[in-house]
Amino acid sequence: MAILPILHFPDPRLRIKAQPVERVDDSVRKLVDDMLETMYEAPGIGLAAPQVNVSKRVIVIDISDDKSSPLCLINPEIIRRDGIEEMEEGCLSVPSIFEKVERARQVTVRFLDRDGKSVETAADELLAVCIQHEIDHLEGKLFVDYLSELKRQRIRKKLDKIRRRTM
Ligand code: NI
Repeated sequence: MAILPILHFPDPRLRIKAQPVERVDDSVRKLVDDMLETMYEAPGIGLAAPQVNVSKRVIVIDISDDKSSPLCLINPEIIRRDGIEEMEEGCLSVPSIFEKVERARQVTVRFLDRDGKSVETAADELLAVCIQHEIDHLEGKLFVDYLSELKRQRIRKKLDKIRRRTM
């Protein structure tokens, strides 16, 4: 396994729409394993392939406290949304920024698992929010896109400052 470098906002590569996975083979499973390791090391609760500069529709999620519930969703598609929820979100591509975003409270998602099997599952609360956030990444969308332009500019400046400090 390998830890992959994570792209940071406003990197234009985060804006590329990811391509569907045609066949779930060992190279896809290796990508999933590397993404999980990268997410745990960060640490974070979700990661999408475009964040590690791979333009494929693959996301990994683990909302447990002890790395006990790794999920991988390949070619995920939300087929049902219910309710509204506002939660504070963060993102490994927008480090140290947390802002409230409104999303569906419950979603049903269809995807391929790491064996290429089609699965349909319902999720709510944090998991539902996480799934929606990660699927956005596959469309080249970031959670800061839901904020005002003014807020986005402030975030950009803050990240610039952090970058300068760590260089
Ligand atoms: Ni994110």
